[in-house]
Amino acid sequence: MKVAVLTGGGDAPGLNAYIKGLYFSCKKEGFQLYGYLDGWKGVLENKYILIEENDVVNNFHQGGTFIGSSRTNPAKDKQTMDKAIENFKSTGFDVLVAIGGEDTIGASSKMHKAGIPVIGLPKTIDYDLEGTDFTVGFNTAINIVMESVERLITTAKSHKRVLVLEVMGRHAGWIALYGGLAGGANYILIPEEEPDIDELIEFIKNRYEKGQKYAIIVVAEGVKISESQKYEVVDEYGHVKLGGVGELVAKIIEDKTKITTRAVNLGHIQRGGPATSYDRIYPLMIANKAINLIKQKEFGKLVVLKEGKIEAIDLSIAEGKIKKVPIELYKQMKVYFH
Ligand code: F6P
Repeated sequence: MKVAVLTGGGDAPGLNAYIKGLYFSCKKEGFQLYGYLDGWKGVLENKYILIEENDVVNNFHQGGTFIGSSRTNPAKDKQTMDKAIENFKSTGFDVLVAIGGEDTIGASSKMHKAGIPVIGLPKTIDYDLEGTDFTVGFNTAINIVMESVERLITTAKSHKRVLVLEVMGRHAGWIALYGGLAGGANYILIPEEEPDIDELIEFIKNRYEKGQKYAIIVVAEGVKISESQKYEVVDEYGHVKLGGVGELVAKIIEDKTKITTRAVNLGHIQRGGPATSYDRIYPLMIANKAINLIKQKEFGKLVVLKEGKIEAIDLSIAEGKIKKVPIELYKQMKVYFH
């Protein structure tokens, strides 16, 4: 069989582990593995490479994706869908393995229904993909946030400042909550809950009155503070380019408390660099399951980790849905805001 793979959306540490997993699992079956360049863009432009052993072995330890990624949406209109289907069929590939988050998997589900045999594999540092307990990149990202919080504590303490750390998480606060808790942040704001600025200000004032003269506040980029937050750049999936809420929160804190406050936007550092062991091992296992499904000609599936088991669910389960932090969990974790 001829298997093609693409990586779509924002990159994530561990993508190259998926490709290594696919390559060796294909090799065992006598299948060939091809890589579309730059996600769905490669399908629309008919650009792909034959993946060889050296490629996957040499890239396994690197972050990012050696076949490139983009936010190209193949399902944005009928003409684009037809072009993608026509191109894919012209290659003689038997199946397309699409590695991505909510956008790529959603679009891949549509393309599967339209006639391309697809298997999806979960990726997003945001962790907001429905139906799976694993999305590659999330574990690495929260470790980076954890380390950043720890580093911010020492400088905040030295200057008796408030430091606001803005982290990624467009629709969901998983990175902010998990990374913040792991690093020992003092207070965390997530998009799922409307921010209570008065409560935050009281919280900071209390800390200073108690003699704890610094504070680390973690804010997810998707938090909405005021109607005046405007974002102008929109991608092919209709998402605005976020960024800046940390500055806004810092300004409000400084205005209301008169305590020197600085904002740090962690940005793409969260997506860069090598993956943790967790973000390398599960891709290898998930990719192996994917090739077993392909061998049995079972398509239209998303291979997930669910309650400790690697299994296949329908691709459409993740289409158009976002997995959010349960408000109840956030409220319970507030016991650790100190
Ligand atoms: O990969 C998801 C994500 O990390 C979001 O949290 C963030 O808003 C977005 O990507 C940034 O994307 P880009 O790199 O295209 O600016």
